[in-house]
Amino acid sequence: MSLSVGDVLTGIDIAAVAHGGHFVARHDGQVIFVRGCDTGEVVDIRITEVNRRYARAETIAVRTAGEYRVMPPCPVAGHCGGCDFQHLEVSRVRELKRQIVAEQLQHLAGLEFTGDVIAVSPTPFGWRSRMRYHYDENGRAGLRAHRSGDIVPLPADGCRLAAESIATPPPWSAGTELIAAAADSGTVFVAAGSTQSVRETVSGRHFEVAADGFWQAHGAAPQVLTDAVLEGLQPRSGEVAADLYCGVGLFAGALCDHGVTVLGIEADRTAVALARRNVPQGSFLAGDVAKVADRLPQVLDLVVLDPPRTGAGGVVLAAVLARQPRAVAYVACDPAALGRDLRLAAELGYQTETVQAFDLFPLTHHVECVAILKPE
Ligand SMILES: C[S@@+](CC[C@H](N)C(=O)[O-])C[C@H]1O[C@@H](n2cnc3c(N)ncnc32)[C@H](O)[C@@H]1O
Repeated sequence: MSLSVGDVLTGIDIAAVAHGGHFVARHDGQVIFVRGCDTGEVVDIRITEVNRRYARAETIAVRTAGEYRVMPPCPVAGHCGGCDFQHLEVSRVRELKRQIVAEQLQHLAGLEFTGDVIAVSPTPFGWRSRMRYHYDENGRAGLRAHRSGDIVPLPADGCRLAAESIATPPPWSAGTELIAAAADSGTVFVAAGSTQSVRETVSGRHFEVAADGFWQAHGAAPQVLTDAVLEGLQPRSGEVAADLYCGVGLFAGALCDHGVTVLGIEADRTAVALARRNVPQGSFLAGDVAKVADRLPQVLDLVVLDPPRTGAGGVVLAAVLARQPRAVAYVACDPAALGRDLRLAAELGYQTETVQAFDLFPLTHHVECVAILKPE
């Protein structure tokens, strides 16, 4: 029997977790990706999407609960797209992410991941230093529902994942977006697209960042990632490095502080202008890394790659690795893209020495990895 959106299926056995915040189930041979459950549970589901290869569904009732299930503290958890796993203990969520990282690296790169997903804060709440709130036609603030344009209004006490100062946004115009930034220089609420900037401080270095521009979301992330990159690269004074997808110069600044000469490349021109101010010792190029990689120095000692979810890809890896760096730090927000790129790097003569995974997006399905690559 073929499935349709809205169908309710009862007593469905939930199997392994899959990349993306859902779990695999099967019904009459058809694969269904189910949200809001855990491996080993038996649940009732409602189909939310059907395509030729699989269906998607949400859990609507739990018949046999798993041992890690908890009551989500947020009343809109499960409807709002901001969290995937608020119904599970955070240690269980980290274990699920470990399974995802291990599975993706094994499947896509033939690598064995033996680590854990490292907790970076004592609580899984209050970590988001940036929020994008959507105001509905009645002027109520909310967040987008999962895989939908619908706006789920915030509960009265705000978003549990947001830093306290930005968890309950102020009234704003109906039908608009509001950016909230809990920065080291203070909290600001600005209209989407605003040019206002805030100041962040990492290892004593100040970074001016557009409130509506990219900055690592978890309050602890800039320091955690900087430490992991420096530990992996072990920079030496006088070396030459590239910081690719450099944003406002986070890693470039840390490398310059170790006496390294750095070229940063970044597509967002506002971020490049800020990087030049933030890291005057470095030089910065605005552009698509794949298109301007031929302007990298002919010899590089060190490289940091911190691409968007799509990964760096073959053109960028080939250009970077042809310069024979002695070490590459690859900061990845998608373990699948990381797996694909680590395989490509291996084909180009670079082996993965270590992979660390950090829980920089607690209670969501996202996980951040830092891989260190060295020549064979
Ligand atoms: C994950 S962020 C990392 C930023 C920075 N490393 C940091 O930690 O603050 C990825 C950055 O890549 C930039 N970006 C995305 N696609 C790009 C491309 N094709 N070429 C250059 N930069 C790009 C984005 O604007 C964003 O600043």
